Amino acid sequence: MSNSSFTVTAALPYANGPLHLGHVSGVYLPADIFVRYLRMNHQDVLFLCGSDEHGAAITLRAKKDKTSPQEIVDKYNQQISSSFTDFGISFDVFHRTSSSLHHQTARDFFKKLWDDNRFIEKTSEQYYDNDFNQFLADRYITGSCPKCNHDSAYGDQCENCGAVLSPLDLISPKSTLSGKVPVLKKTTHWYLPLDQHEKWLKDWVKDGILDGKKHHNPQEWRNQVVGQCLSWIEGGLRPRAMTRDLDWGVKVPIENAEGKVLYVWLDAPIGYISATKHWAEKEGKDWKKYWCKKEAGDRKLVHFIGKDNIVFHTIIFPILLKDHGEFILPDNVPSSEFLNLEGNKFSTSRNWAVWLHDFLERYPDKVDELRYVLTAIAPESK
Ligand code: MF3
Ligand code: ZN
Repeated sequence: MSNSSFTVTAALPYANGPLHLGHVSGVYLPADIFVRYLRMNHQDVLFLCGSDEHGAAITLRAKKDKTSPQEIVDKYNQQISSSFTDFGISFDVFHRTSSSLHHQTARDFFKKLWDDNRFIEKTSEQYYDNDFNQFLADRYITGSCPKCNHDSAYGDQCENCGAVLSPLDLISPKSTLSGKVPVLKKTTHWYLPLDQHEKWLKDWVKDGILDGKKHHNPQEWRNQVVGQCLSWIEGGLRPRAMTRDLDWGVKVPIENAEGKVLYVWLDAPIGYISATKHWAEKEGKDWKKYWCKKEAGDRKLVHFIGKDNIVFHTIIFPILLKDHGEFILPDNVPSSEFLNLEGNKFSTSRNWAVWLHDFLERYPDKVDELRYVLTAIAPESK
């Protein structure tokens, strides 16, 4: 194997529940195997992860458990990180997006893009819950899916057919807070004009060409990743709001943005960068060597993710990285399909899972056996 260097990331798990075997077999174990293989071949590799501690996944969980978001994330960050350790996943660093280092990193990133006029400011009507006096995040609204009629689609996505939705697409919307029909009210947000990036994205995903040069070999990407990504681009991308009306998250670092935070899918992948900074500070290294064009040379960035994360890692995050200007773009984004349990997909919100910590408590001496089985049945392409 020739000498190369790698920055390998594994999707930051939401700190809203424990890890289940679906997460492990689709994302963390394949990433760990890849990294162990590289290390055995004396490659220079940094393997990073952390918990994703913002967004409505967390605030919803806190509401359900009648506690605060902070308590939820403290609890699950702890539990998730010890399960990874006990299961032998060999991260160099496991960070968290609630750290002040991360907040600062995410704010600076947004501010740079805002200063460079990369966002479009737009006022529009969004769903508001009058009983709770708040705007409703996409996940706080459910209704019927306009594509498949599934009756409990979320405002951002239908879990039944996979359609990417916006809350206004839902038929008979309902607030998950009050259970009532929400009203429309005006609010201002900053949008990333995904549509303006279609051309270069397509060249990059389809042919591996970036800025007129060969960037990666597109044959090495999984078919389902390239396929999903191209079908989105061909269907036409729409501007997407990068801010939200929520009180939990990274505050929007500009004037007249009180009560607004960064969209969790803007802040979370930046968590890969802050995890690197956290590690580098401790180890006396230069974080830029792992991320920045100038310092990183031909280092390869590889994101291991689950299939519901594809759009964020092949379209939105690459646009943000490119717009920012200093950063390298991913060389590959290996994504798995979902693992099923008795024919149904593992799901934290539906409480349908075998939990990793539960397995480890019951069978502490069966780690290798579990690693073996989950590798043998890994949902690589189906
Ligand atoms: N928390 C997300 C999920 O579990 C993954 C976030 S990946 C990152 O689906 F890009 F944000 F880091
Ligand atoms: Zn649907």
